[in-house]
Amino acid sequence: MGIEVKVEGLTKSFGKQQIWQDVSLTLPAGEVSVMLGPSGTGKTVFLKSLIGLLKPERGRVLVDGVDMARSPERDIMEARKLFGLMFQDGALFGSMNLFDNIAFPLREHTKKKESEIRRIVMERIDVVGLLGAEGKLPGEISGGMRKRAGLARALVLDPQIILCDEPDSGLDPVRTAFISQLLIDLNTQIDATMLIVTHNLDIAATVPDNMGMLFRRNLVTFGPREVLLTSREPVVAQFLTASKAGPIGMSEEKDAATLAAEASGGGAVPVPRELVPQLQPSPGLGERAAVARRRARVLGMLDTLPASAAAAIRATYGSDALEPTAVLPRAGGAL
Ligand SMILES: Nc1ncnc2c1ncn2[C@@H]1O[C@H](COP(=O)(O)OP(=O)(O)O)[C@@H](O)[C@H]1O
Ligand SMILES: [Mg+2]
Repeated sequence: MGIEVKVEGLTKSFGKQQIWQDVSLTLPAGEVSVMLGPSGTGKTVFLKSLIGLLKPERGRVLVDGVDMARSPERDIMEARKLFGLMFQDGALFGSMNLFDNIAFPLREHTKKKESEIRRIVMERIDVVGLLGAEGKLPGEISGGMRKRAGLARALVLDPQIILCDEPDSGLDPVRTAFISQLLIDLNTQIDATMLIVTHNLDIAATVPDNMGMLFRRNLVTFGPREVLLTSREPVVAQFLTASKAGPIGMSEEKDAATLAAEASGGGAVPVPRELVPQLQPSPGLGERAAVARRRARVLGMLDTLPASAAAAIRATYGSDALEPTAVLPRAGGAL
């Protein structure tokens, strides 16, 4: 089962430019989470901070007892092996075929024999649906296949935490749907903790157990998917409905005058899209282990959630949710 990632009061600037401040959230072990945010809000900076490649000025990132922001570099390097990172552009070596690209971390970081490397690489190539393409160069395949190859490479060291930077960027809606299904299937097969950063609304609506959103240098919220998906908070609702009316403008933020003009024009808050069910694993894979853990966790926090989110969660879990006491005794239980 994946490992929990706990972020506490994280603040990051470059010179005078503050990227975000006081970000706190927990990625629950083995669950899938999405971080939404308009372009330039610091999503990639956030991922790099989680693995300790960038150092926030304040706050902590706790992974298996290590603070990825401040622990000694040796400990950070060790903890970084728990992570698999899928970069936005695939970050493949153009002169290496897919097999060698995917084998690269194994050859670099382990002393495994070539036969063992072959076994692992071919297994991951199978998981991402690229069997047969292992001899191709990155330039010879589609963007969607490059994403899959990048994902396969992120998997070879058996990560317990998988970070995906915009797995949809540059993909058409059909390929994005395939990637969404692949991410859910992957979670089913390896039960890793996953964080996907994206601005894709379909991924946000169908993939995660939990969701947060970065905006105006702050984490707007982070919690069960139902909280954001039913939110009428203007920035969230505007983003999730891809509406022009609201606080987000062309250059990310509208000035006060534009907002005032919209408000006086009766600028209604967009109504959230209907909550669609979360994607299920492909047939034959069984249920995600995260589902039972998440059900217990979320039903235990119903009182703390906005009414719209609590109602949506009750509707999702049906009769289970009507008798929360049946689920509450968690001590030493499902976890
Ligand atoms: N290494 C860096 N040095 C200085 N500024 C950076 C660096 N990396 C990112 N930034 C700035 O941080 C902001 C957020 O970038 P990024 O995380 O890439 O946004 P997103 O991934 O949400 O589109 C941008 O304004 C970018 O220019
Ligand atoms: Mg980015």
